[in-house]
Amino acid sequence: MENKNTVNPELLPQKLVEDEEEFHHVNNPVTGLKPIVKKYLGAPTGAVQKGNKFFFTDGDAKVEVTVVTDEIIRVRLAPHSVFLDEFSYAVPKLENKVSLFGLREEETEYIVYTNIVNCHVRKKDFFISFSDNQNHVTSSDAVQMHWEENIKFGGYYVYCTKECQPEESFFGLGDKATELNLRGKRLKNWNTDAYSFAWNQDPLYRAIPFYISLNKGIAHGIFFDNTFRAEFDFGAEDPTKTSFWAEGGELQYYYIHGPHMMDVVKRYHVITGTHPMPPMWALGYHQCRWSYYPESKVRMVTKTFREQKIPCDGIYLDIDYMDGYRCFTWNRKYFPDPKKMIKELADQGFKTVVIIDPGIRVDDNYSVFKEGKEKKYFCRRCDDYFMEGHVWPGRCQFPDFTNPEVREWWGGLFDELVQLGVAGVWNDMNEPAVFGNGTFPDDVRHQYDGHRGSHRKAHNVYGMQMVRATYEGLRKLMKNKRPFTITRAGYSGVQRYSSVWTGDNVASWEHLKLGNIQIQRLSVSGISFCGTDIGGFSGEPDGELFTRWIQAGTFAPFMRAHSAGDTKEREPWSFGEPYTAINRKFIELRYRLLPYFYSAFWEHHRYGFPIIRPVVLQEQHEEGNQYRQDEFTYGDKMLICPVLEPGQKTRKVYLPKGKWYDFWSHELIEGGKEIVVLTPLDTIPVFVKAGSVIPEYPVMQYVGEKEIDEVKMNVYFTDTEVNSFIFEDYGETFAYEQDIYLEKKFVVRGKENKMTIQQSMEGLYTPRYENYHLNIVGLPFKPTRVIADNNDVKDFVISADKSIQLKLRKNFTQLVIS
Ligand code: GLC
Repeated sequence: MENKNTVNPELLPQKLVEDEEEFHHVNNPVTGLKPIVKKYLGAPTGAVQKGNKFFFTDGDAKVEVTVVTDEIIRVRLAPHSVFLDEFSYAVPKLENKVSLFGLREEETEYIVYTNIVNCHVRKKDFFISFSDNQNHVTSSDAVQMHWEENIKFGGYYVYCTKECQPEESFFGLGDKATELNLRGKRLKNWNTDAYSFAWNQDPLYRAIPFYISLNKGIAHGIFFDNTFRAEFDFGAEDPTKTSFWAEGGELQYYYIHGPHMMDVVKRYHVITGTHPMPPMWALGYHQCRWSYYPESKVRMVTKTFREQKIPCDGIYLDIDYMDGYRCFTWNRKYFPDPKKMIKELADQGFKTVVIIDPGIRVDDNYSVFKEGKEKKYFCRRCDDYFMEGHVWPGRCQFPDFTNPEVREWWGGLFDELVQLGVAGVWNDMNEPAVFGNGTFPDDVRHQYDGHRGSHRKAHNVYGMQMVRATYEGLRKLMKNKRPFTITRAGYSGVQRYSSVWTGDNVASWEHLKLGNIQIQRLSVSGISFCGTDIGGFSGEPDGELFTRWIQAGTFAPFMRAHSAGDTKEREPWSFGEPYTAINRKFIELRYRLLPYFYSAFWEHHRYGFPIIRPVVLQEQHEEGNQYRQDEFTYGDKMLICPVLEPGQKTRKVYLPKGKWYDFWSHELIEGGKEIVVLTPLDTIPVFVKAGSVIPEYPVMQYVGEKEIDEVKMNVYFTDTEVNSFIFEDYGETFAYEQDIYLEKKFVVRGKENKMTIQQSMEGLYTPRYENYHLNIVGLPFKPTRVIADNNDVKDFVISADKSIQLKLRKNFTQLVIS
């Protein structure tokens, strides 16, 4: 197809045209010539509607605009009118919940509209833009969608270039090791084993092609659902342009309307799913190391936790538990009776998590290899050789997890581990990582759920499909129990199957800072259940760094300490006092706050809220917030400001608007400003939003250690009205999928001399405990009367810190304090 327009060369994304070497092959392998010309959409000749899809053509290329929901519109491009099969690992089922939509033709453009958004297709030149129902344009093409033929592999390089506004900021893209705001960056998506990665190193372990734009307080999202090697340029080459492009596949993206960043994230979850509820123990503390072996070492570590009275739920076995690193086997010298060990650990409250990598050792005496070989489950090169490469076990072959039959088989392999009592599985090296070459060569073939592809297409989803196979297998085998899984690699949607950690970080202050950003970024990129290797994987932290990391990790959705084999012992007591006591205090705090964390998880799972929320997500209209990256809220009630510098005595904290209580001192502070807070080693600044109800459990050494006979409800006085939601259920089964859970709503209202707390609940679950211990903080008056559901409560106590303590039946509906 000829480009029917004269394209102003100045409009072209300069770097994209000139710097092709960096991104793909340049010369035609046959002619040796610099061959391929970028083709641009010409003017559309008309529009056709088929259901919720609208088709536009320039005579050769076709563009499909699909109305997905009132707020989400998908755009696809077929250079010669033939669309690829509709198939996506990220979007298992395309929503189609639109209240109203249609097509309107105007003099200069076609408009596909819903109640909320418009997708404009300009008649003159096929530029596509989006606007809201007030005709405010949120996103527009700077150049027509374009492509380039790929002679070597077939298909096209596909490009989309949008205008980048002077004040536009960008967030998302998963685990990138850089500032939270991606403005001015160019970043790649190609899952990479990045041992000891550096600040700004790119790409890392995950490919999450979803970003959020924020321009003058108005947000929208773009999800470029393309699994090939892809790049994003946020005004790096040309400050007036934002581009994304991929080496193959379809130019297919979802425009996700805001205007709130929170809505963009929630809507991204509508199409890609959320994390399932984890077993509650998985929100506890996890201890890992490469590796704890033999068995006596594992027992010593776990015993010390109990002796030291430092809570811990998860204990990990890294690769050395296996026989020659063969997955699904045991080294019987180190672990003569795994069943007995796992059972005895479980009796002390430890859940055993084992590592499983994708590389299967080539060994005809090894049943997993033999079976995989017989059934043709391993990946092959284009000329039919097996894909072989070296990983921990030596020469390996690799299951093709994009084949549903292989996933089913893989899932079944966990049977024995589940029988032994293993509670969770850790999938590592699944970028996939191969020593020497880094990963598979591009020509490796994949079944891709019947849609066939080379490794170019399957690479970024390989790890996701591995952990999917693991999760689905465990889910079947563990019956009604929730499995715990953790993966290193992933693609958009991986959250449906797993938690993630940020990979092989370093014991440095810079990495503590970086991890703090990565957690926030992952959370707004759809992966809320995430954490870093506390202490840093490689290198040696000193006591101070380790403690500061434990403190930050207390407020990461996933909390695990992990370290490489060549480092010194790294348990919470390894640095002696005062560190041990402080580490204990924070891990205990994690257990006290479990019901709050668990409720935030439910809000994520059920409603698509990210668990960790950068300040900009709370207050996107506030100038300057787009650059704040050192603090965040956990859920919507607690503001966490980790200490990220050595020897730091004070920290600057920004409190979003509204009133906040210092979590430790209960001092009430007016927000909307920066303050300076003391940061002695034994504390980090934490604040609670006035009006919050924060549930608290007694300290336990592990989840389920004690029957909870009373839940403490910390209520923070407000002079306005604030709602809090608390979620309760069995904590380890899938009964919640049958609606067996309790969602409690607390409404706190306050005036000069009166405070009311109302409670309502929905759901079918009945917790075993009978009473709440109410701890009311910040009351501005001295109470004389407390009335619960029309009955006078006599036995309330005013403590020295002026908080009010009282016991209340768990199903009270109204409490009035005056
Ligand atoms: C990889 C993982 C690390 C693990 C090691 C050995 O480096 O990222 O967490 O300990 O492999 O299995």
